Amino acid sequence: MKRADVVSCQPLFQRVAVIGLGLIGGSLALAIRSNGLARQVVGADARASELSLGLQSGVIDEAAASAADAVKGADLVVIAVPVRATESVLRDIASSLSPDAVLTDVGSTKGSFVAAVQRVFGSLGPRVIPGHPIAGSERSGVAAARADLFERHKTILTPGPACDVDSLARLRQLWQACGAEVLEMPVAHHDEVLAATSHVPHLIAFSLVDTLAGEDDNKEIFRYAAGGFRDFTRIAASDPVMWHDVFLTNADAVLRVLDHFSADLDRLRQAIANRDGQTLLRVFSRAKAAREHFSKMLSGQAYVINMTNKTVTFKVRPGGQVQGDIRVPGDKSISHRSIMLGALAEGVTEIEGFLEGEDSLATLQAFRDMGVVIEGPEKGFVRIHGVGMHGLQPPRGPLYLGNSGTAMRLFSGLLAAQAFDTELTGDESLSRRPMERVAAPLRLMGAVIETAEGGRPPLRIQGGQTLTGIHYAMPMASAQVKSCLLLAGLYAQGETSVTEPAPTRDHTERMLQGFGYAVKREPATACVTGGGKLTAAHIDIPADISSAAFFLVAASITPGADLILRHVGINPTRTGIINILRLMGANIELLNEREAGGEPVADLRVRYSALKGIDIPVDQVPLAIDEFPVLFIAAVCAEGRTVLSGAEELRVKESDRIQVMADGLAALGVQTDVRPDGIVIEGGATLGGGVVDSHGDHRIAMAFAVASLRAQGDIEIRDCANVATSFPNFVALAQQVGLQVAVEEAS
Ligand code: S3P
Repeated sequence: MKRADVVSCQPLFQRVAVIGLGLIGGSLALAIRSNGLARQVVGADARASELSLGLQSGVIDEAAASAADAVKGADLVVIAVPVRATESVLRDIASSLSPDAVLTDVGSTKGSFVAAVQRVFGSLGPRVIPGHPIAGSERSGVAAARADLFERHKTILTPGPACDVDSLARLRQLWQACGAEVLEMPVAHHDEVLAATSHVPHLIAFSLVDTLAGEDDNKEIFRYAAGGFRDFTRIAASDPVMWHDVFLTNADAVLRVLDHFSADLDRLRQAIANRDGQTLLRVFSRAKAAREHFSKMLSGQAYVINMTNKTVTFKVRPGGQVQGDIRVPGDKSISHRSIMLGALAEGVTEIEGFLEGEDSLATLQAFRDMGVVIEGPEKGFVRIHGVGMHGLQPPRGPLYLGNSGTAMRLFSGLLAAQAFDTELTGDESLSRRPMERVAAPLRLMGAVIETAEGGRPPLRIQGGQTLTGIHYAMPMASAQVKSCLLLAGLYAQGETSVTEPAPTRDHTERMLQGFGYAVKREPATACVTGGGKLTAAHIDIPADISSAAFFLVAASITPGADLILRHVGINPTRTGIINILRLMGANIELLNEREAGGEPVADLRVRYSALKGIDIPVDQVPLAIDEFPVLFIAAVCAEGRTVLSGAEELRVKESDRIQVMADGLAALGVQTDVRPDGIVIEGGATLGGGVVDSHGDHRIAMAFAVASLRAQGDIEIRDCANVATSFPNFVALAQQVGLQVAVEEAS
């Protein structure tokens, strides 16, 4: 609820009693008054000076002689005293508290508040709602109170099972109207999370400052203690009474985190004593990555979760041009594989041109979670300190793979053969995608893997299995399945071979060879023998042809366009987009063809050309499997009919790409004929403006941005945050060449 809404209607409460006018109690009283959330705010505080200061400075309307007086007639009572004083306050007010009053608190531990309420009242009544605003500063007392203290901060409420719904809703509204984001969680969970994120850090700050103050040359230390020391220990100036209460009331949860921390600190101590730079580098680079993804991580589990926590909308104006000379980011498929093989290799692998998109970063993070030291990425440069085929360590929690099907399927192969158990999870889209296609053949090799309902993630892989090579004829043309089995095959006894029904991308085979691992290759079959080793290599990752595809189509459909795309990978298993566009009449030239790191690359020049509709050859489908969303846009802009068939795999990509594209085109006034395995598009229809839902699919979002070049009106494309999975600087490059695309973001 916006604050203005609250001000303009009835106040949420008649009389609010705030017991304890410290920083938090005083700030809440002030925020309630400033935002008109109650008719009257009355304060009580055992310290007469704080109380009269509160009255004088307008923090409260009325100063009560006692807590019991304050709560008389109050419909909201807020206990804001140090947590260990709560129980005696509750006893003082028990007989004066109205039965209809909502009773809440602001303490940093919630189990202790609930226990105090139970001791005083016998049970947790329906209107008792423990609360905790995660706000404050090292300053204390009513003089430090600020009406805006809670703005853009979280307030956690921990209602019990019998909580009165209306009371909860009003308390929520009150906090929201003070600018806070309100979360709900069980009491025990709150206390665990806060022990880790707040209580232990305070303990460490208090302890470190105290230790250094006790050193003989403490004057020198404090004289030169600037920067890091000051930042790190700011919270050691917090209120000692309040914090002593916190530790005594949340002792169990704090001790658990503290023991874990002490053990980790001991290990670092040991590493320094042993001059073990590898361990230091591993822990520090893992922590640096975790800190950089701070807002996106969840405590206790894999380091990075839920990478896309914002809502992103593209707003695209019609028209625009396509001119210039650009390089799109590194190939996603090759980036994933470079991390995987680099981690398992012996020696240090250096990578250039690594895609710093969320998908490949999830793979990188997962290897960090398994103990691999990885430096970077820094402008596409990554250095991996390989641990060898058997050097991975068990991760502390599930490996979170974001939006990436490639990561999950390739990981399942290489993790099936490790000595430890793993669980693989992903975001909403990945959690809907089929995983039995890898789990079933891996089981034939002896792996123990559980998929969730319907063969979907999470995958639970039981380690310690002996794998045996198989000969597998894939039922679908999938490079992910092929790669998964080849990776498992590196660990299996004997030969593992995979036969594909049609050629699919062969980056795994090429890169294995680049790392010195023999791969027997026949036209439709790739074969490895287990038990070998990988040797570190240098990898130059070409620009991703799947990202270049958006600009190939953009230039092809825009009169006057002339664009150079540099250093694009043109591996023949990926060039379906060029072949199909050329069949449609596109003008694409391959310049300066060369080889980079075992992959063919070229600069592509593309100019406008009138396109015509075609029957897309079925053998091109696996070679352009990721490019169909934007090819559908080309088909709409072409003259005549385009028919796609044999493409049922599109239905199980990041979204059902046939249906989602058809729905998006329909929203722009273009009707198509959807088939189970493809689509028929009559070219030449007018693309109108409208609102398109990308269903969180990066390639759908980018395809509709390209459509704007030939649209008649503005296009709004919703749910575009996942563009960052494969093409983080798409918007900047699109703007650079002349597309009129703007971004709106909301948390
Ligand atoms: C990929 C293979 C393809 C492709 C995906 C990346 C890979 O998936 O769609 O974006 O890196 O191996 P399938 O193998 O499932 O077709």
